[in-house]
Amino acid sequence: MDRIRIRGGRPLDGTIAISGAKNAALPLMAAALLTEERLALDNVPALADIETMAVLLGQHGAETTVAADAGGRTMTLHARTIRDITAPYDLVRKMRASILVLGPLVARVGEARVSLPGGCAIGTRPVDLHLKGLALLGAEIVLREGYVEARAPHGLKGARVSFPMVSVGATENLLMAAALADGETILANAACEPEVSDLAHCLVAMGTAIEGIGTGTLRITGRKHLRGARYAVLPDRIETGTYAMAAAITGGDIVLAGARLDDLTAVADKLVEAGVAIERTADGFRARRRRGASLAAVDVTTEPYPGFPTDLQAQFMALMATASGASRITETIFENRFMHVPELARMGADVQVQGATAFVRGVARLKGAPVMATDLRASVSLVLAGLAAEGETIVNRVYHLDRGYERLEAKLAACGADIERIGG
Ligand code: EPZ
Repeated sequence: MDRIRIRGGRPLDGTIAISGAKNAALPLMAAALLTEERLALDNVPALADIETMAVLLGQHGAETTVAADAGGRTMTLHARTIRDITAPYDLVRKMRASILVLGPLVARVGEARVSLPGGCAIGTRPVDLHLKGLALLGAEIVLREGYVEARAPHGLKGARVSFPMVSVGATENLLMAAALADGETILANAACEPEVSDLAHCLVAMGTAIEGIGTGTLRITGRKHLRGARYAVLPDRIETGTYAMAAAITGGDIVLAGARLDDLTAVADKLVEAGVAIERTADGFRARRRRGASLAAVDVTTEPYPGFPTDLQAQFMALMATASGASRITETIFENRFMHVPELARMGADVQVQGATAFVRGVARLKGAPVMATDLRASVSLVLAGLAAEGETIVNRVYHLDRGYERLEAKLAACGADIERIGG
């Protein structure tokens, strides 16, 4: 199994080109199941999760081709017919986002059979909101032998779905289902994450009418047929935030090319409060910390968009582990997203967890150590800690990083990091 070796202590300086967002690309790919025409997606990142989704869509009957384009990759998906309505356990357990095929399949062919994802490293993560929403659109849902079986032989019907809590995935599944439902669907308390809006804009390009994009109330007018489209995946705000924090933790200066600062307002505000300078550039922004200037301790609470994202909580904790003073980091989205804490502690971080809050007392210097993590963002927080630490850090279980960070070592090494992948 590959590992990453980092020799820490070098301020990073340079430019990083931000890739297309994994969490936007995955639902956009699933949307290809809604039409018998081609859906071409530009700026699709080369990541393990993207490959898993392509394999799953292939199983359902979508042909996928990939071509290099100027900024990234163009993936063309063509689901002329739906060959198989089952999303098998082996693929779904690899990647929970597989549940996103449920809405499109039942909307297009009136039936779907998708393995229940089960729990994962960051929490129990039920899918009840996806299922209740689809039931309101008229799908009959049965759970059998670990699978969700959904049927709507006469098609889905528009309805009002009011989510009791904000869910990115449930909003996306319902958006796609509503796009082919008969009549109008209203999604209330919908997620407003930029990735949800990206999907909505693509569905509009495919022929759906959607009002309220970017707000908590989405009004969708379904169509009998959707057409193909060409759509560019938005830049990854979580990758962007991660590298802005890499600049901050190393006392460096990084230009994030192609990034959208407007998708990261809550994060930028916290970085500025901590003493990081953020400046817009022609096509992105620059994040820098004066060498020698210490970071101020800042409290953070994760929230649905536009609040501080849970997907940057672990990275921010690594940053606060080196700040001067104490900060409080509260996780409100997932119940078990502090798996990085014991690993950061092995590098000398001083963190105490009480329930959903981590109390972080900054230390003068982190120390390199062999570490490993159980999910993508936890793993990258250890990379950030390693970049700032004295000595050598070995990050094990690199496959987590490969799920969500395109060419991580190359991007960091180009800014002066001493980082390499060790095979085997
Ligand atoms: C998406 O997951 C992202 N994944 C996650 O990114 C991200 O952390 C999360 O949204 C929150 O922003 C993708 O986009 C592929 P949710 P999702 O439904 O859709 C509970 C990463 O590191 N809930 O918004 O699964 C749930 O348990 C990943 O890239 C229910 O109770 O998240 C959680 O506590 C990890 N019932 C909360 O809602 C449901 O039916 C928010 O989850 C659905 C969710």
